[in-house]
Amino acid sequence: MGKSYPTVSEEYKKAVEKCKKKLRGLIAEKNCAPLMLRIAWHSAGTFDVKTKTGGPFGTMKHTAELGHEANNGLDIAVRLLQPIKDQFPIITYADFYQLAGVVAVEITGGPEVPFHPGREDKPQPPPEGRLPDATKGCDHLRQVFGVQMGLSDKDIVVLSGGHTLGRCHKERSGFEGPWTANPLIFDNTYFKELLSGEKEGLLQLPSDKALLADPVFRPLVEKYAADEDAFFEDYAEAHLKLSELGFAEA
Ligand code: HEM
Repeated sequence: MGKSYPTVSEEYKKAVEKCKKKLRGLIAEKNCAPLMLRIAWHSAGTFDVKTKTGGPFGTMKHTAELGHEANNGLDIAVRLLQPIKDQFPIITYADFYQLAGVVAVEITGGPEVPFHPGREDKPQPPPEGRLPDATKGCDHLRQVFGVQMGLSDKDIVVLSGGHTLGRCHKERSGFEGPWTANPLIFDNTYFKELLSGEKEGLLQLPSDKALLADPVFRPLVEKYAADEDAFFEDYAEAHLKLSELGFAEA
């Protein structure tokens, strides 16, 4: 299904370009790319394709949504981002949080994910419980990404590569540690580490390890571990889809 993007004003487009620069500065200064990618993903990942509720529509600023257990720690992202948001009142929160995710990937050496402005802010946060549970396996991932969000098996694997950035924090998720030795660089190391097994100082969530046990997921893990260009190409496409769930649908 093709997308039909809304038209935004020249003033809005200019604000987005300026805002991108400010985000690059913030992320470089605070080393907060992982948190910025996580807020973008947790904003979008609540989309429910059947009811057309949830999704990347700026609701993460509400204390109700920040209070969802899966979002522990994202109040820090909202707080870090607010001084930049204040400089661009014209930009919606919906566009702003997704722009932060796109810039986080780009500035850490990842692919350039296309960005189309024009999302509107929704008044209502989604109900709790739509984001994936890290203790569960492939059936659960397919339920959340496939049935709920409307994404594909390939999207599940390639987007899991987002864990090339960042780490788990015991006080936020109960898990502790980074997936790779270079958690501020966006590359295909996540897939290489996943295939090479558990290592001192690094972490793999049950939901990461589940990818190895599935006959459709595993060949994709192997492909992305062997071919970073293929990872970047498919990641950019899947991130774009994620960032536009429920947006600009024809
Ligand atoms: C496949 C299902 C997924 C599960 C179960 C999952 C689970 C988790 C958990 C438990 C954490 C640790 C949070 C903390 O303790 O701070 C985390 C962090 C993170 N996740 Fe995921 N995640 C999934 C998919 C994704 C996707 C699709 C992306 C982006 C494309 C992503 C990006 C991140 C990033 C960047 C962090 C690090 C945040 C930081 O360093 O502060 N995750 N994820």
